[in-house]
Amino acid sequence: MNITGNTVFIPGSTSGIGLALARALRAKGNTVIVGGRRAERLARIAAENPGLDTVQIDTTDPASIQAAAKEVLAKHPDLNVLVPMAGIMRVEDWHRPESFLDSAEAIVATNVLGPIRLIAAFVEHLQTRPDATILTVSSGLAFAPLKATPSYNASKAAIHLLSESLRLQLADTSVRIVELVPPSVRTALLPGQEESEFAMPLDAFVSEVTELLETQPDATEIQVENVKFLRHAEARGDYHQVVEMLNAADPHGK
Ligand SMILES: NC(=O)c1ccc[n+]([C@@H]2O[C@H](COP(=O)([O-])OP(=O)(O)OC[C@H]3O[C@@H](n4cnc5c(N)ncnc54)[C@H](OP(=O)(O)O)[C@@H]3O)[C@@H](O)[C@H]2O)c1
Repeated sequence: MNITGNTVFIPGSTSGIGLALARALRAKGNTVIVGGRRAERLARIAAENPGLDTVQIDTTDPASIQAAAKEVLAKHPDLNVLVPMAGIMRVEDWHRPESFLDSAEAIVATNVLGPIRLIAAFVEHLQTRPDATILTVSSGLAFAPLKATPSYNASKAAIHLLSESLRLQLADTSVRIVELVPPSVRTALLPGQEESEFAMPLDAFVSEVTELLETQPDATEIQVENVKFLRHAEARGDYHQVVEMLNAADPHGK
């Protein structure tokens, strides 16, 4: 995608990767709309970042997606980039169903149904724009599993194949599908992750992503160096060693 001159909606950008990406894209000359559930964060982001627009949205709620889409498109009819960023990650113990079923359902609603409903709400509009992009957000864990987070890994594998499939189906339109594949990054996604020595600093991650978007405008996947260990394990032939190393290093791995 072009790195400048876009109008970008990022549902799931009140913190972490989404907020850092919103600020970086704003600095590159894009109009950016930040979305999320937490009203107080949205108000603070608007106050502290002149030029960032905000909209409240719960991406697990179809009515909220419809209302936010209407609001965003009424105010920004030139919207040409959608980044379905909202996601949750939970540690699950599948020995005990009462401990994981609620979490698994919430993960599917947020990480899988959310992007599907968001893309459905915007895809007709995006096809009217001469140059449009849907930047999906998967994970290195779509390609090698962390033992502690089965539903999360599966949700991100679903996003990978959704992205691959939509790229084929929308090839006859102006809409490009680009998949962002983050490695572990220091955000509040899991408790303790902001201090994790295994996770990449947020600023370094987003500046590498921005540089890749800028230097590889035709890329179908945005892969920072740190994610290639997971992303290409199977193709390299060292998948089993990678899975073993990933889980041996994981502080949640039991
Ligand atoms: N950090 C990593 O290591 C990593 C690695 C690979 C992939 N990712 C992916 O990157 C994305 C961003 O995660 P992050 O690491 O930046 O974590 P984060 O700081 O916890 O951010 C998650 C964002 O999603 C929003 N969100 C969650 N549920 C939502 C809902 N139902 N409706 C609307 N917004 C919702 C949150 O906003 P509100 O709470 O205000 O709604 C927040 O802005 C996720 O899809 C995650 O899976 C992260």
